[in-house]
Amino acid sequence: MSAVVIENLTKLYGDFKALNSLNLVVEEKEIFGFLGPNGSGKSTTINCILGLIRPNAGRIEVCGIDVERKPLEVKKICGYMPERYGLYENLTAMQNLKYFAEFYGGISKDWLYELLELVGLSAVADKKVAEFSRGMKQRLALAQALINDPQVLFLDEPTNGLDPQGIADFRRIIKELQKKGKTIFFSSHILTEVKEVCKTIGIIHRGRLVKSGKISELVNKTKIVLQTEPEISKETLEKFGKVSYEETTKSFLLEVEKDCRLELSKFLVENRFLVKELHLKEPSLEEVYFSLVGGPNEDLLPR
Ligand SMILES: Nc1ncnc2c1ncn2[C@@H]1O[C@H](COP(=O)(O)OP(=O)(O)O)[C@@H](O)[C@H]1O
Ligand SMILES: [Mg+2]
Repeated sequence: MSAVVIENLTKLYGDFKALNSLNLVVEEKEIFGFLGPNGSGKSTTINCILGLIRPNAGRIEVCGIDVERKPLEVKKICGYMPERYGLYENLTAMQNLKYFAEFYGGISKDWLYELLELVGLSAVADKKVAEFSRGMKQRLALAQALINDPQVLFLDEPTNGLDPQGIADFRRIIKELQKKGKTIFFSSHILTEVKEVCKTIGIIHRGRLVKSGKISELVNKTKIVLQTEPEISKETLEKFGKVSYEETTKSFLLEVEKDCRLELSKFLVENRFLVKELHLKEPSLEEVYFSLVGGPNEDLLPR
């Protein structure tokens, strides 16, 4: 069964379409990276999945449960760490968890200790949150999202503003959670963040899912780098695929559906071209991303 299935989700704010017939499937027990620039609709999507806001159209299922018909059942199996989580600074880590546990009821103190252990905060369980670093607060917010031992965990830009150590700690914990069988839905506008932890990603742009799949499959569109003597004409090459010319290296870049180097070299030899350079080039996720959402954009660079 899929953990999340979204069909034709549309959400309007006034007459602005924040989500425009979005389709998305997340498989169980994955760390799914939901990637998109600021304002692309990530938080809106998460809020719709959790039943926190009502979409105008579309259907959502979490672990086979319909969100519109059974919102409470969905909430029971979901954990959520919002972009702007709320912690009580003048309470200790444990007191914060106890406070949130009361909303659920029937949650033991042992379980809360276990959660603090998991996020590496058991040694500071009785310290006030006001004394915590950003990374510690983020991990406490994660523990809070895990209070009901959810099957599916939604993390909205969880590593925003963390230093490298904080990011590394966070990654280690969510990988551990995946090993425990949880599905993790991780949203971010930072490409490198998603690339490090997720095998599968979905790219959202202007309220639509523009691409999804395994990173390894998304980046395998083949390009061939070619240089000949004498220089071949662009028009001649175009019968093999989309062609661009790189001025700096004085070589052609040929975008092809599949590796056609054999055919190409045969053609070149027959037409008396000397092959100076002929090799495959694997595109990076960055190239795939920018080709979908438009040029490198400052807010995509790691902080
Ligand atoms: N409550 C709201 N009222 C009006 N517009 C909103 C509201 N929430 C979000 N938006 C707009 O919807 C778009 C998507 O927002 P959001 O889902 O927060 O994007 P992301 O999380 O990807 O940054 C943005 O253009 C944002 O300005
Ligand atoms: Mg957001």
